Amino acid sequence: MTDRASVLFVCLGNICRSPLAEGVFRDLARERGVEDRYEVDSAGTGAYHVGEAPDARSREVAAAHGIELLGSARQLVAADLERFDFVIAMDRENLDGIRGLGEETGDGTEVHLLREFDPEAGEELEVPDPYYGGRSGFENVYRMVERSCRELLGHLERNGTPLDP
Ligand code: 4NP
Repeated sequence: MTDRASVLFVCLGNICRSPLAEGVFRDLARERGVEDRYEVDSAGTGAYHVGEAPDARSREVAAAHGIELLGSARQLVAADLERFDFVIAMDRENLDGIRGLGEETGDGTEVHLLREFDPEAGEELEVPDPYYGGRSGFENVYRMVERSCRELLGHLERNGTPLDP
């Protein structure tokens, strides 16, 4: 791994979960004073929302925690799997979408489910899609994302690799 680790969060639409994970991870890195060590981005396996800002409900829940979500949705491309050190999916459907690109990941690239890093995950390793649910679903997603990103960042800071969550 080079000095600067790159982390790409992936969901389906790139408007609800992955922009939240991107914003939370960046905020946690800033809090620890290590933001310069990470390149953080997000993408969606689907193209439905390309160019859109993060969903208003994700922006609201982030804002309630002092985090501003910026950027606009983009679709995951095969080159992302070469370029990023860590590709972090929200659910197994996203993993299928990642594999569906038909691209071998780069030698150094690791693909994980975000909740592999959630200390409270138990058996449930997916961040549920909150799109068709209510506001409480977004708060639930925020809590999972926050716990997981905190542990992921801690792991990277300690070990330089999350191979063994
Ligand atoms: P995300 O949520 O994958 O967390 O961004 C979704 C956004 C849009 C749709 C599904 C999930 N959709 O079906 O349009």
